[in-house]
Amino acid sequence: MQYAFVLGRVYTLSLAELLQVLGRLGIEIKIVDSSHEVVIVESAQPLPFEKLQRELGGIVKILKVIDMVSKRETDSINFALQNYFKPAKIKTDFLKKYSGKIQFGVSIYLLDPTVLAFGEPKRVGMFIKRALQDDQGVRLVLPEFNSLALASVVVTKNLVLEKGAEICVIAGKTKLYTAKTLSVQDFEDYGRRDYQRPIRDELQGMIPPKVAQSMLNIANVKSGEAMLDPFCGIGTIIQEGVLLGYKMLGSDINHRAIAGSETNLEWFRNRYKIPKGKYHVEVADARAVAPLVENLVKVGAIKGISAIVTEGYLGPMYGQFPSMDEITKNFHDLEVLYKDSFQEFLKILPSKGRVVICIPAYKKSREYALFPSLDFITDLGYNLVTAISPNVLSKFSFAKLTERGTVIYDRKDQIVAREIVIFEKI
Ligand SMILES: C[S@@+](CC[C@H](N)C(=O)[O-])C[C@H]1O[C@@H](n2cnc3c(N)ncnc32)[C@H](O)[C@@H]1O
Repeated sequence: MQYAFVLGRVYTLSLAELLQVLGRLGIEIKIVDSSHEVVIVESAQPLPFEKLQRELGGIVKILKVIDMVSKRETDSINFALQNYFKPAKIKTDFLKKYSGKIQFGVSIYLLDPTVLAFGEPKRVGMFIKRALQDDQGVRLVLPEFNSLALASVVVTKNLVLEKGAEICVIAGKTKLYTAKTLSVQDFEDYGRRDYQRPIRDELQGMIPPKVAQSMLNIANVKSGEAMLDPFCGIGTIIQEGVLLGYKMLGSDINHRAIAGSETNLEWFRNRYKIPKGKYHVEVADARAVAPLVENLVKVGAIKGISAIVTEGYLGPMYGQFPSMDEITKNFHDLEVLYKDSFQEFLKILPSKGRVVICIPAYKKSREYALFPSLDFITDLGYNLVTAISPNVLSKFSFAKLTERGTVIYDRKDQIVAREIVIFEKI
């Protein structure tokens, strides 16, 4: 059977996370087709899509592919589908059984950016609506003007999956895949995990829960094992790790950050009914964090840590692009901190244990000023692992990796973007 994963805005990160998690869960897939919007896979077994949707921060929707329809390059999408959406087909293959007024949505995802699709969701939706109109009330939910696909919030708010279906067309130049949405990302819950926390720290900045989840997944650690965030701030990575089923340790040099983490994690534990003993946070300098882990091993709280996942200290935040001199100075200062910290991490990481870390990348329009070299870390005894393995990278021509194989996570209007780097202890 075939499934399609709709990738998030930072699609290279979403793809890296998806491939890592499917691999870790031992799910064998074949890539059928892909673009920066969507990845279609073939799987011999049914996929645990609910678990994947809950646990993959970078996946916006999971679809089940229903059919493949050929199309001439010159045909419009709706023209190629005019004999496809028959009432019986729509009812058996797409719509959820529902006795009230049916609500359905139409979204189009492109496999090739040159396929013309403007206005197509409406045209496709209208003839599905006409086909269904005879027997039951029907409401069509369409993407916003200028968009081809429904946002997951619109799918959820309109109860489209409960009262009908989101019918998707994944369009290439000469073929169309029809698909129905199995699940969408729970945007409300991610919002709660971010904005409803009692303590926030706008000054230092907090990593969004979705990105924290992606980074934890990229660490490639089995559920139940322990991970450390040695620059934990107010605890975003800790909470997301606990939710994914890991034991989490957090430390930060700042007492206020640790007090904030404790308050947030207590709120989180109650909100998500997490048993006690799944996390531990403590004040510590990342450059001297090994005793914290060693003590916990000594008292039997953990067997050791399997990986480190962290948004490292990023240096000053800026409202305007800083001068090159300032950037050079920041990189220099951070190099000193990171070097000592990575030296310390060697003491507590197992061989092949990963460090997934955000480091700063300064963004000016579409260009980034990146850390000039990361040899000062690899020289200590680490390999830099590319976010997408070189054996499969050629299948994803759209993937945007830096020259050293890292991924950049950025947000609009943010000067200090995050370069996500994966190191593996040799
Ligand atoms: C970018 S913030 C991390 C924010 C965190 N990811 C969150 O979502 O709350 C970086 C943190 O590194 C901490 N820090 C700076 N230098 C440190 C050091 N030497 N050892 C440990 N923590 C340090 C700061 O106090 C700050 O809380």
